[in-house]
Amino acid sequence: MNSATPGSTDTTKAATETAADADTATPISTRPANFLNRRLPTNPFQVLECTDVHVYYGGFQAVRGVSMPFAHNEITALIGPSGCGKSTILRSLNRMNDLVDGARVEGQVRYRGQDMYGKGVDPIEVRRRIGMVFQKPNPFPKSIYDNIAYGPRVTGMNVDSMDELVEQALTRAALWDEVKDKLKQSAYGLSGGQQQRLCIARTIAVQPDVILMDEPCASLDPIATMRIEGLMTELRDQYTIIIVTHNMQQAARVADRTAFFTATVDDTTGDRTGELVEFDLTKKIFENPADRRTEDYITGRFG
Ligand SMILES: Nc1ncnc2c1ncn2[C@@H]1O[C@H](COP(=O)(O)OP(=O)(O)OP(=O)(O)O)[C@@H](O)[C@H]1O
Ligand SMILES: [Mg+2]
Repeated sequence: MNSATPGSTDTTKAATETAADADTATPISTRPANFLNRRLPTNPFQVLECTDVHVYYGGFQAVRGVSMPFAHNEITALIGPSGCGKSTILRSLNRMNDLVDGARVEGQVRYRGQDMYGKGVDPIEVRRRIGMVFQKPNPFPKSIYDNIAYGPRVTGMNVDSMDELVEQALTRAALWDEVKDKLKQSAYGLSGGQQQRLCIARTIAVQPDVILMDEPCASLDPIATMRIEGLMTELRDQYTIIIVTHNMQQAARVADRTAFFTATVDDTTGDRTGELVEFDLTKKIFENPADRRTEDYITGRFG
């Protein structure tokens, strides 16, 4: 695990520094689509940060008051019982909730210091930089090659050699050796685990900064799951990875930091609204949690 990362558990300090760095950030919308600068933020927590985020679906409040940073070169796991808002928060991190009818995000999500929901920010560019892998592998009904080439083509990326880009993305996603002789075949001919690695390769192909994964191993067998977990720990060196998982062993194995969410019931409305209970180094969450609710959940007494 990568728990010796600068910043340690001092997230308050991180949040303060983030605010100070904000003015120097280049607006997302003014960067060219093929922007490749992988300049590290001065503060590793500056990559992505939620401040007092509330998410509503119509009149229903799904998530209340979430504040937490997500660090560069780390894997952050979001865990908690079903319905506590993990997917909702994950989708708010790349404006995917914009595509959900009636969804509304309040509060601030900062990406490299800039308000992601601010005026003039292009949500498509946000999603290119902050890619998403879903629970069920969802390859396009195209060839393996075209699945990877699609994103760079539609986003107008300046690519010298598409063949090279496809090979690189598939290699990084640990799939190249298995598919290099059948690139023109349909992606639907791959196994579930291969399809999920293809989806990860497709996400990487547009050169994102952050990868969001919503239960990426939920439909996979243990061998495919181990491959994806191995892949995540390799990708951590280049990306910020945020993963929702119901598998606590998985969180313990791969995540540097873990956030535990739960839902509390409003006595008046009966609504179950999700909130962040505790966020810390994974080891701390699993071995010595500060909150009783976290302990009950990880020891299986609740949820
Ligand atoms: N599109 C939607 N429209 C209305 N309500 C929604 C929508 N998506 C989620 N919700 C509600 O928001 C709350 C949080 O849902 P969310 O899917 O974020 O939970 P989750 O923690 O990811 O659950 P799970 O572990 O089952 O995937 C739930 O009460 C859910 O019913
Ligand atoms: Mg979910």
